[in-house]
Amino acid sequence: MKHLLKLLDLSSEEIVDLLNLADQLKYELKHGIKHHALEGMTLGMIFQKSSTRTRVSFETGMYQLGGQALFLSSRDLQIGRGEPVQDTARVLSRYLNGIMIRTFAQKEVEDLAEYGSIPIINGLTDFCHPCQVLADLQTIREYKNKLDGLKLCYIGDGNNMANSLTVGGLKVGMRVSLACPEGYHPDPQVLEFAKAYGDKFQLVSDPVEAAADADAMYTDVWASMGQEDESEKRKTVFQGIYQINDDVMKSAKSDAIVLHCLPAHREEEITAKVFEAHANEIFDEAENRLHAQKAVMVRLMSSER
Ligand code: CP
Ligand code: NVA
Repeated sequence: MKHLLKLLDLSSEEIVDLLNLADQLKYELKHGIKHHALEGMTLGMIFQKSSTRTRVSFETGMYQLGGQALFLSSRDLQIGRGEPVQDTARVLSRYLNGIMIRTFAQKEVEDLAEYGSIPIINGLTDFCHPCQVLADLQTIREYKNKLDGLKLCYIGDGNNMANSLTVGGLKVGMRVSLACPEGYHPDPQVLEFAKAYGDKFQLVSDPVEAAADADAMYTDVWASMGQEDESEKRKTVFQGIYQINDDVMKSAKSDAIVLHCLPAHREEEITAKVFEAHANEIFDEAENRLHAQKAVMVRLMSSER
C-alpha cells in the first residue's frame, strides 16, 4: 500500500491489517504506551472543504505518533489561486513525509499521488471517504466482535459515504444493503464493483426493506459539502422517507447499532430519538477516526511497524 486514495485500491487483507493496527494503537494510547513511529515526520493537511473530525484527528494523531501536522487551507495555498496540483505535489514532496487532502474531485487526489513522491491520504472527496469507513468498520467490529457475515444497511444519498461503505463492507465480508432514491444512486464504478458480490449487495428504494435484519444501520446528510444549492430540492426528494427512525429500526435486528459519520441533521436523515439512543456508538465511531487514521499513517509513512 503506497497511498490511501480509495478503498477500491486496497485488498481485503490490507483493510483488516489496518483495523488490527488501529485496535492496537487504540490499546496503546489508552494504556499510556508511547508509539512514536513517525518521530520527526510531517504531514501536510490540505483542506478545500470544512472539517472538524478529520482535521483534529489527523493533527492529534500525528502528534501522538511523534510527528507534526501542518494545516494547509486552500484559501492560503497557491493551489487556491490556480497553481496546478502537479506542481504542488512535486514541491510538497520535497518538504513533507505525507499529505492528507480533502477536496472535491477524486482526480485531484489521484493526480497528487501520480506527480508527488510521498504517500497521499484521501480525507474525503465527492467520490469517497475511505478514512471514515475504516473507523466505521473498526467500530462495528468492536461492538459485534466480527465483520464477516454481518449486514450493513445504509439509508440516504448515494454519496461518498455510500460508495465507501459499499466497497469497504463487501471487501471485509459483510452484506451491504442500500436504500437510495431514484436519481441518487451510488457511483456506477461502485455499482459495477458490487455486482461481483451477487446477492450480498442490494440496492432498493425502500428503507424498511433495506434495513431488514441489519446488524449495523448507517445514514448521512441529504446534501453533502458542495451541494448546498441543491439542498431544498433534495429535501423534497428525501424528506419523510430516507430517515433512520423508529419504524426503520423495527425492521433491523433488535441489537442493531446505529452509525453516522457526522455532522448529523436531526429530524432529517435521523431522528433525534434514534440518534440519542445510539449516541455511544456514534461517538465511539468518531473517536475511532483517530485510531484508524494513525494506523493508515503508520502503514504508509513508517518502515518500523
Ligand atoms: N466525518 C467527517 O469526516 O467529519 P468532518 O467533516 O468534521 O471531518
Ligand atoms: N457526505 C458528507 C460527508 C461528511 C463527512 C459530505 O461529503 O459532506
